Amino acid sequence: MIEQIKPKLKKIIKKRYRVERNDVHVDKAIDGVGADYYSKEAFLLAKQLRRKPLDIANEIAEDWKSSQQYSVGSKMEANVAEPGYLNFNIDDGLLHENLADILKQKNKYGHPREKRELKVLIEYFQPNIAKPLHIGHMRSAIIGDSLFRINALCVDEIGSDTHMGDWGTQFGILLYAYKKYGDDKIIKTDPINELNKLYIKANTEIEAKPELRELAKAEFVKLEKNDKENRRLWQQFVKWSEERFFEIYDLLDIKKHKHNWPESFYEDKMPAVVEKLKAANLLKESQGAQVVDLSEHNLGTAIIIKSDGGTTYLLRDLATYLFRKQKGYSKQLYVVDSRQSHHFNQLFKILELLGELTQDDAEHIDFGFMSLPEGALSTRKGNIIELEKLVNEAIQKAKKTIQDKNPQLENSDKVARQVAIGALKYFDLSHNRHSDIVFTWEKVLNFEGNTGPYIQYTHARLHSILRKAHEMPLTKSFEFKFDIERDLLTFLSIYPSLIQTASFKSEPKVLTDYLFGLASIANKYYQEIRILEEENKAVRKSRLALIQGTVQVLKNGLALLGIEAPEEM
Ligand code: ARG
Repeated sequence: MIEQIKPKLKKIIKKRYRVERNDVHVDKAIDGVGADYYSKEAFLLAKQLRRKPLDIANEIAEDWKSSQQYSVGSKMEANVAEPGYLNFNIDDGLLHENLADILKQKNKYGHPREKRELKVLIEYFQPNIAKPLHIGHMRSAIIGDSLFRINALCVDEIGSDTHMGDWGTQFGILLYAYKKYGDDKIIKTDPINELNKLYIKANTEIEAKPELRELAKAEFVKLEKNDKENRRLWQQFVKWSEERFFEIYDLLDIKKHKHNWPESFYEDKMPAVVEKLKAANLLKESQGAQVVDLSEHNLGTAIIIKSDGGTTYLLRDLATYLFRKQKGYSKQLYVVDSRQSHHFNQLFKILELLGELTQDDAEHIDFGFMSLPEGALSTRKGNIIELEKLVNEAIQKAKKTIQDKNPQLENSDKVARQVAIGALKYFDLSHNRHSDIVFTWEKVLNFEGNTGPYIQYTHARLHSILRKAHEMPLTKSFEFKFDIERDLLTFLSIYPSLIQTASFKSEPKVLTDYLFGLASIANKYYQEIRILEEENKAVRKSRLALIQGTVQVLKNGLALLGIEAPEEM
């Protein structure tokens, strides 16, 4: 419904004020204001045009009325409320039509009719070989996976990449260490952590005896020059690490990446970038290094090539962006924790100076730090085994709760897994991306409140009503009479617009907030209103239809977060 209001509002604003809006604001109205939806657009325009919001709201309402020939317009009234809100009232018939639409479209309900003309690349997870994962990698995987699912519905084409960290001078140190101390038997037991131990050992050694650094550097040079033995070893490191990373995808139920373009992929693509920077007069020497001076933009100095001739992470990122752009990606999203903001600001600025990037072509989807309970996964020591431990602990805890609540449940192991993974993901996604969050089992696995288990549980409860009904819900000509029914219908009707908003803002929280609101009303509904016991058949079957519509939307919404919706739990 909101997606029917939005384009019309957009048109009016454009025509009358010559203002082009990406996404106009319309939302479900708060209870008790006597409207179904409202918009704050008049306030936004007032600021921009330096006029009174109330006057603008009146003008828009007038234009709305005079365009009654639109079929939607005739069933939707626009009114003005002080000091400048636009309120929309909608005909019951439209809400009923929308419910029928949900029941017909099922899994597809909410999918935008038109997709934005964009080819988006979304990058997430980004582990580094031979290095333990940290909680940031897990957050990136969860947020990125959800944004991938959301954007897959909203844009023409979508791809994903993980930009695995497998290149750089540190691999010279690792090769040096492996040759000196490596023991495959030990490494195979836990490749990533054992390789990391070797690396740390060699690093400490080098710190004590700096002359060893030359040996390590020489190993990387040999690798770069395609030395057979070093290539073979490095490939082995990559393989060992990748195998472990794939286990994490499965563990967290994260979509595999469409592309596999790791950092090493850009090895032969970097020289051309250096030439490009030179040609644009951006490169200069500073203490033996090749840098781009960004002080004019308050972004300091960006190192492109180190004084020892080594290429940098930044240079690889420049090559990465340009390569993907060449592959047709018109927008690139980098889901990486906020500690790398400076890096991405430098990257985007240099690309802008090269004339390769304008405003919305790239975005750093940053997120804050998640602190974990003592002993669960210490971030500094954090390794894959600990991440697995965290997930397994969640599964054990979920299993226990489910056993208490529903001892007869069949395939309770599967459900426990769905609940545990859902709880971890929902917890991550339901917080403002930018803020730091504190993990507690209490909050994550709670069956009450704004949590994954609460939404899943509501879904399962509603499902059991449908199972017990032994009759089919109506598919049209519904009969409703309570306010809460209208409220639920209105709530269901805004779902499609929220998918778009979540995509525009790259913020899955838009959906968790919505699902929590929907689940709360739905819970109230079946507690307060008789459904199966209702005697009038048409009324009873209308209520079942409303329950079924709600079940569908809860399920669809969870799917966009990468969370499953078990039918029983
Ligand atoms: N591998 C890096 C890390 O673990 C993150 C990579 C982020 N992506 C990028 N294009 N720089 O810190």
